[in-house]
Amino acid sequence: MKELIKKLTTTPSPSGREEKIKHTILEELQGYIDGYKIDKLGNLIVWKKGKKEGKILLDAHMDEIGVLATYIDEKGFIRIEPIGGVSPYNLLGSSILFPEIEGFVGIEGETSEEMAKNIKNLDFDKIFVDIGASSKEEAERLVPPGTFGVYSSSFRDLGDRVVSKSMDDRVGCAIIIEVFRRSNPIYDLYGSFSVQEEVGLVGASVVAFDIQPDVAIAVDVTAHSDTPKGLKRISLELGKGPTIKIKDSASISDRRLVEKLRCLAEKNQIPYQIEILLRGGTNAAVLQRTRAGIIAGTLSIPTRYVHSPHEMIDIRDVENAVRLFKIFVELEDSIKL
Ligand code: CO
Ligand code: ZN
Repeated sequence: MKELIKKLTTTPSPSGREEKIKHTILEELQGYIDGYKIDKLGNLIVWKKGKKEGKILLDAHMDEIGVLATYIDEKGFIRIEPIGGVSPYNLLGSSILFPEIEGFVGIEGETSEEMAKNIKNLDFDKIFVDIGASSKEEAERLVPPGTFGVYSSSFRDLGDRVVSKSMDDRVGCAIIIEVFRRSNPIYDLYGSFSVQEEVGLVGASVVAFDIQPDVAIAVDVTAHSDTPKGLKRISLELGKGPTIKIKDSASISDRRLVEKLRCLAEKNQIPYQIEILLRGGTNAAVLQRTRAGIIAGTLSIPTRYVHSPHEMIDIRDVENAVRLFKIFVELEDSIKL
């Protein structure tokens, strides 16, 4: 499982440029699916036939946040624009991986006073990326405006905890791949690896319309509360189980689906947590409002430092999410909610 997560998180594929990760995911699913298609937006949809009539859809977005080169000055310094929720503070002291070269983030400031002010009110107007070029021409050759980049960060194995960029949402992709590998679904099982979630739930908004599932579950990361002065209105801890979402700022999970997942977890002694996310949302928000409405919800993995170059998860939560999904898709009455 760690190897799979490592492979997926180290594949650079920001929103709108998901070709590489799509290829990696398909490769990992070889031999475990009955078919696949790639729709016009670039979503990868895979399936495995069941014995009974009915459809379950598990969705994870395969894109990751990133940056876009926008302008190059005379000396070859590159200006950037975020793709999705990238904080400029996460870029300070870090670097960006463009397809051809790595770039290092610097900050403007002619005086120490100005520098201090810029750090305090950091935004994308005050930072630039240095690829070591000595002219505009040289930089433009390697990173022409319009080039997409991602955090440059490696995968680290700390034991139960693992750290990488783009756990959001490659960990969700890994879970779905594992469910396909390990389960014999009763109903047709669909996996969607959707594009452009980070720029507004774009890909998933057409997947459910196409597939028309009886039940759709988004698999994504969520916040944590277990670090010093962590969020005090919620409780989300690493290693205490995947989280069954009740609500976030974009959707309320279907009550029947929540109850079903809770019952299954309890019956099978799978640790789980109840999730109420204060800010942010998942693809469940667009999956549910398709056609005449679809029963939808989210299962999440508690994650520290979401949208930073070092998102931390607990591998036991991932294993338990796979266990819970395997039981769910092998259940006779999973879609009778
Ligand atoms: Co995200
Ligand atoms: Zn996500």
